[in-house]
Amino acid sequence: MKLTQRTLLVVGATSGLGRELVRQLLQRENRVIAFSRRAGALAEDPDFRGKGGLLLHPGDVRRPEDIARLGEFLQREAPDLDGVFYCAGVSRPDFVEAPDLARTLDTIRVNFEGAVRLIDLTLPGLRRRPEAVLAGFTSMAAVRGMPRGGAYCASKAALERYLDCLRIDLYGSAIRVITIAPGYVATPMSAQNRFPMPGIWPVERGVRHVLACIEAGHDIIRFPWYHAWGMTLLSWLPDRVYWWLAHRYRTQVRIQPQAHDEFQWPVEP
Ligand SMILES: NC(=O)c1ccc[n+]([C@@H]2O[C@H](COP(=O)([O-])OP(=O)(O)OC[C@H]3O[C@@H](n4cnc5c(N)ncnc54)[C@H](OP(=O)(O)O)[C@@H]3O)[C@@H](O)[C@H]2O)c1
Repeated sequence: MKLTQRTLLVVGATSGLGRELVRQLLQRENRVIAFSRRAGALAEDPDFRGKGGLLLHPGDVRRPEDIARLGEFLQREAPDLDGVFYCAGVSRPDFVEAPDLARTLDTIRVNFEGAVRLIDLTLPGLRRRPEAVLAGFTSMAAVRGMPRGGAYCASKAALERYLDCLRIDLYGSAIRVITIAPGYVATPMSAQNRFPMPGIWPVERGVRHVLACIEAGHDIIRFPWYHAWGMTLLSWLPDRVYWWLAHRYRTQVRIQPQAHDEFQWPVEP
């Protein structure tokens, strides 16, 4: 499916991959609805100010009332919606030494439950289109458990499996269900990480790659290839060897909270 002159919804559009996706989709003459809590900030952003084809709709994927408002907005402004990109996500560590149930559940709500809500909202309309795309950002972290990654890995793995099931149920239909599993891409999320991220890609390159792969007909997009290979090798390790190695690495997993996050944690508890 060509991603030009379409009407597309980007969820999680304020920063990082979602923001860049909006930018590149607008360059390709699409109409884009940008949904996220701070989506209004794009109106002040020099890259977007005065851009035709951009509709900003602030809202929170955790709030059913915001999703319902988005539904009314789409019915009014974009009844011809051709595609959805679910990029909303948060990356927060979990510490067995200092658990925070509220933070763990909130991460699952944004990364997984929000995606399910958005799919529920938009799938009936997408099914009426002659061609449509439904894409979700998961992560390489969905492949195996990662140290201090309980909520993040589990929510991404849940989304991968959910998309996989949808792909089965919609097989042969006009909707393409696409899983996008990045490795490290330079965004505000990866800037939280206080550990080495070898082979990190610039965000422009990541999004260009994703759009090219979708147009080339790929349904599962894992990049960079060397990160995908590395994860495959890890998945072949005997479980006990992998658990031992990952356990040894756990104190290296240092993630700084984003300044605007309502949850905070010490970088080294
Ligand atoms: N960057 C990487 O290396 C990497 C690697 C693997 C996977 N990913 C995945 O790629 C996706 C994009 O990540 P990114 O790196 O671009 O991160 P980012 O720059 O932190 O962007 C996250 C986006 O999610 C939105 N968001 C967060 N909470 C939300 C909520 N409650 N409701 C609505 N929107 C919300 C944010 O907007 P507001 O704060 O304005 O709501 C922001 O636009 C995420 O799903 C992430 O897990 C990224």
